Amino acid sequence: MRIYVTEDYASMSRKAAAIIAAQVVSKPDSVLGLATGSTPIGAYKQLVEWHRQGDLSFNEVTTVNLDEYKGLPPTHDQSYRYFMNDNLFNHVDVCKDRTFVPDGLAADAEAECAAYDEKVKALGYADIQLLGIGHNGHIGFNEPDESFIVPTHVVDLTESTIKANARFFASADEVPRQALTMGIGVIMNAKRVLVVASGADKADAVYGMVKGPVRPGMPASILQLHPDVTVVVDKAAAAKL
Ligand code: F6R
Repeated sequence: MRIYVTEDYASMSRKAAAIIAAQVVSKPDSVLGLATGSTPIGAYKQLVEWHRQGDLSFNEVTTVNLDEYKGLPPTHDQSYRYFMNDNLFNHVDVCKDRTFVPDGLAADAEAECAAYDEKVKALGYADIQLLGIGHNGHIGFNEPDESFIVPTHVVDLTESTIKANARFFASADEVPRQALTMGIGVIMNAKRVLVVASGADKADAVYGMVKGPVRPGMPASILQLHPDVTVVVDKAAAAKL
């Protein structure tokens, strides 16, 4: 693992954006694996800025997102499709037909997961997969469990994740209880992985990912077995390393 510790959230965001931009510049038809959540927002803003300045084009890029809430339509402002459109896709020249997010409304969610796996595989997996990390060490919505779940699957969100995500909803009751998430196998098949984390509340999870034992109770720890992982964290999130 290559670890960059930055001064603060702003410098973490610029660094992560620079790594993604370098990927796109060196391979314009890259497959970008993308994440939602608060942490990547600054990096997306920076990418949009570089696009506006004429320095970066996404017109040959394909994107695959990690996850989606089960039951939320793309028009719901807390759906991950809405988030991606709002934070990145609507502001750059990506072809929306080549942006993929699991369909939270699929009548058969398990079949949607299997089809999503096939799609990502057919694309040759992500050239770079961006990840945030949950307080409990989740990546995508792969929650702590007794084994690593390899394929894309439907997951019951843990109370800790529901609580953490309640800040975006009117109340915790409105947070969906299930999600569709890329499995650990799909994430591990990405050619490169880029993890971003910010803030003291992520320090334990970052420690578990980088230095703890590899175990399904700390899903991000599996990344220790991936050959090309870059971690960009601010000082506060790196405090326990
Ligand atoms: C988002 C995702 C999640 C988040 C994680 C951290 O697509 O899959 O794993 O990356 O919950 O979220 P934030 O960045 O909001 O702390």
